[in-house]
Amino acid sequence: RKKVTLHTIDALYRRNEPITMITAHDFPSAHVADQNGMDMVLVGDSLAMVALGMEDTSAVLEEEMLLHCRSVARGAPTAFLVGDLPMGSYEISPAQALTTAIRFIKHGRMHAVKLEGGAAMAPTVAAVVRAGIPVLAHVGLTPQRQNALGGFRVQGRTAAAALQVLADARAVEAAGAFAVVLEAVPAEVAAYVTRRIGIPTIGIGAGAGCSGQVLVQVDMSGNFPPGRFLPKFVKKYGDVWGEASRAIAQYRDEVKSRAYPAKEHTYPMKKEEVEEFER
Ligand code: KIV
Ligand code: NA
Repeated sequence: RKKVTLHTIDALYRRNEPITMITAHDFPSAHVADQNGMDMVLVGDSLAMVALGMEDTSAVLEEEMLLHCRSVARGAPTAFLVGDLPMGSYEISPAQALTTAIRFIKHGRMHAVKLEGGAAMAPTVAAVVRAGIPVLAHVGLTPQRQNALGGFRVQGRTAAAALQVLADARAVEAAGAFAVVLEAVPAEVAAYVTRRIGIPTIGIGAGAGCSGQVLVQVDMSGNFPPGRFLPKFVKKYGDVWGEASRAIAQYRDEVKSRAYPAKEHTYPMKKEEVEEFER
């Protein structure tokens, strides 16, 4: 597979071929995504929950994100790599955002960065893009602003709110974003925005009318215990937790019963050597 670049993304968009994106947070999750043809891999700040066991994304540090970015970069040599700027690392000023974005390229080995916010963040998007760092914008439900939004709620449900989503998408397009994530907006709104702007929309909980889709790998592969809450838009394509559980339970049982290790898992020694050794 040829290395995915912004040209590849643009070509997919122009021929109306859906763009595939998935999150990864370490070498193996990046490797399996890259080997299975994902166009883009996102090191999302959702790793705060799925890899670090935090309650939400607000506590994850830039240094922690960068460590995960580097491991993802080693596992995904082909996909276009996007690093998610964590809360607090870009909102203060365009200069702060650019400083952080440069670290994501230089230390994180990413190709682009993602940051949350629409019209209000447009000058920030422009400053990062001007430095030659592609920006994936993120509008609609922006989880880093969950406290201000009053929780994880669908955005753009009224005509006025839908127009705000469109205005945000237009603003980040004008600022030079190469694409925009639309999270948790009605399908009609996402499809309309997609028709009205000239950059790809990457949907998550935004219906089939987007230019591409992104999902959190741990969610879509079913790598979580039964009973965990999943947003409505997640489709569980696998049962990684179930398979890992089955394997670990069998290993536990076979160690306890001494069924493992069997002869084929041990190193042989010549009979004469054993006899001499034991003498
Ligand atoms: O952090 C993340 O994984 C994300 C995607 C879900 C878009 O921002
Ligand atoms: Na995120």
